[in-house]
Amino acid sequence: MAQSTRIAVTPGDGIGPEVVAETVRCLEILRAKHSLDLEWTRFPWPSHAWHEEHGESMPADALEQLKAYDAILLGALGDPGPMDDPNRYLLPDSISLAPLLDMRKGFDQWVCERPARLLPGARQYLADERARDIDMLVIRENSEGEYVSQGGRLRKGTPDEVATQMEVFTRKATDRIIRYGFEQARNRAADRVSEGRTRSFRTLDGRTCESQVCLVTKRNALRYWGDMYTEAFDEISKEYPDVATHHELVDAACMKFVQSPWAFDVVVASNLQGDILTDLAAVLSGGMGVAPSCNLNPTDPDMPSMFEPTHGSAPDIAGQGLADPTAMLFTAARMLDWLGRKDPAIAAAGKELFEAVAADLAENPGTRRGTHEIGSAICQRLS
Ligand code: IPM
Ligand code: MN
Repeated sequence: MAQSTRIAVTPGDGIGPEVVAETVRCLEILRAKHSLDLEWTRFPWPSHAWHEEHGESMPADALEQLKAYDAILLGALGDPGPMDDPNRYLLPDSISLAPLLDMRKGFDQWVCERPARLLPGARQYLADERARDIDMLVIRENSEGEYVSQGGRLRKGTPDEVATQMEVFTRKATDRIIRYGFEQARNRAADRVSEGRTRSFRTLDGRTCESQVCLVTKRNALRYWGDMYTEAFDEISKEYPDVATHHELVDAACMKFVQSPWAFDVVVASNLQGDILTDLAAVLSGGMGVAPSCNLNPTDPDMPSMFEPTHGSAPDIAGQGLADPTAMLFTAARMLDWLGRKDPAIAAAGKELFEAVAADLAENPGTRRGTHEIGSAICQRLS
């Protein structure tokens, strides 16, 4: 008998455990309703609580343990809150958030996918009515770039101190992320056509395409990796004549995300630039409370992918039952979709979860509801 699909549930810190609890309730309903061959195990690490007790955020063999799972569902890491407790156990960000980067690196989760769609009911921050049509997918290079954590501090603490922070860009990682962007553009165009929706993007030679990939760099100042990205993009784009191409410098991209976000389809960006752009994209699509995220390894089926919302641990509202679980639920829907590549029943459950969460959002525009209330409303829809 084939082994069931296994999820490692790591609630983490702050609002993480609150939003994960609601998500697990929804997963339980879906599993029972469709007899899904899905199991999960809850881990008390990585977390501040674990660090307080054991002196480390997670056990030394954490990655080995997690490798036995098909996916990791992570709540949030960081300041556990509540902020009005001055004696809460705090760690420097570089320690508390390290497990996130260790997992991305250790499992070579080289793609970070962050979709930004303004769904009905979500808060529209931009006044322009065309902002309703925002529908982009930001693909962040997730394995190297500005996040390789190489460098150091020389003459620390003296007036002559020197800090170096290296950025590393390999052709292999560049090619794979750009090619992934083009593939997603094609998939998105095919999905739109099957749903009877179309979009059109102009190419430089005056043709019109169903989809687009916009490459973001800062090649006017950071020319070495910028030029390599540009050359790889130009070469790979030849394999995708059906996809329009575009380039933006990251500063201009920030401006255009606000000015005309509806003009973007797939956006490919480096690790840091993608990180910054996706906080902005999250706000354009209704805020951190609704923004999903996935860290994927599309090439090695033995490596678990990790699913965590774009938001952090929100210590200002932690422990009060106020956090919106919508982002975590949308993230879980994408996890089921991902796991559903091997099991169509799981993929169908992912679609069902997405639709239930989207319907709940559409019916409750602008209402202030607690974490549990939103979770219960969605559970009820699924039951
Ligand atoms: C994110 C976060 C992380 C990142 C931090 C917590 C290290 O901001 O997932 O976007 O920068 O990747
Ligand atoms: Mn971020």
